[in-house]
Amino acid sequence: MTPGVTSLPETAKCKRCRGRATIPMPSHNANFCPDCFISFFETAVKRGMKRFPVAPSTPLLVAVSGGKDSLAAWNVLHDLGFTTRGLHIRLGIEGFSDASADSVAAFAGERGLPWVEHSLEAVIGFSIPEIHRRMRRKICSLCGMLKRQLLNRLSIQEGYEYVVVGHNLDDEAGRLLGNIVRNRTQYLDKQTPFLASTHPRLTAKLKPLYRLEGREIRTYCALKGIRFLEETCPLSRGATSHSFKEALQFLEERMPGTKRDFLFTFLSRQKPVASPRPFQNCKHCGEPAFGEICSVCNLLSLLQAKDQPHPGEGGPSPP
Ligand code: AMP
Ligand code: FES
Ligand code: ZN
Repeated sequence: MTPGVTSLPETAKCKRCRGRATIPMPSHNANFCPDCFISFFETAVKRGMKRFPVAPSTPLLVAVSGGKDSLAAWNVLHDLGFTTRGLHIRLGIEGFSDASADSVAAFAGERGLPWVEHSLEAVIGFSIPEIHRRMRRKICSLCGMLKRQLLNRLSIQEGYEYVVVGHNLDDEAGRLLGNIVRNRTQYLDKQTPFLASTHPRLTAKLKPLYRLEGREIRTYCALKGIRFLEETCPLSRGATSHSFKEALQFLEERMPGTKRDFLFTFLSRQKPVASPRPFQNCKHCGEPAFGEICSVCNLLSLLQAKDQPHPGEGGPSPP
């Protein structure tokens, strides 16, 4: 059986063409045949893209991790006729980073698509495991911040105004639940599938898969022959974001359509931000920052401080 495709009785009919259905879509109260599924998937992405203020001829830089979401996003945008280039950031995580880059290289190589790789260590001087070792705290939120900052800086360096990320409906709904449960209302404004640029050194961010669930993306990958990295980051085990997604999935299985309703109701009531928080330029590196120092330079100074010997450690011994 194709991964992501569950068996349906032979009599099951495709909701669109009435041919034989093989793909159940409980959250849409429908079953599809493979061709109609692909057209459903592409329509969902086209619908999303139409809502974003991006001309169809605009070149898009696609941030690719090697996982299903970003490779599917790249594939579908390419199939829909967008001019795309991949960007992969090597995080330096033993085993996982090689496997991630191999997955991107294989995907791009098979389709003749251009891409570029940058290494976190080459850009900021530290890999993720080294930051983890020095900071001795959960690494996921720091890693997320660094990925966001680097994606922005590298996309500008590569000459792009728009960067695509692979966040899907499950990611967005899980994040929304997390922000609501923790009353982090200050993040709700940023919870949009399109984040406009609010500074000359900020690229706009697009999430073309925000209307699609993880299982639909798996099915798409299976039908399109996209081989992606299944392995998840060994440092992200136990991340709280996973628990919020699992909680929503629990509800989804009992009440199909819950994730979709939860996210889309929120998005339909969202009001545009009247006056976005103003940026300053970081005193150290000149990049946009909310305070005097940007979050990357802040982290770097903490990491460098960990280089200094602690009192009583190293250095000349007292007489
Ligand atoms: P994550 O935060 O790992 O769930 O990833 C969310 C999105 O960020 C992915 O779908 C990619 O678009 C992008 N992304 C994650 N990791 C990388 C990476 N190492 N290099 C480039 N883009 C990435
Ligand atoms: Fe960032 Fe694993 S990918 S901590
Ligand atoms: Zn800075």
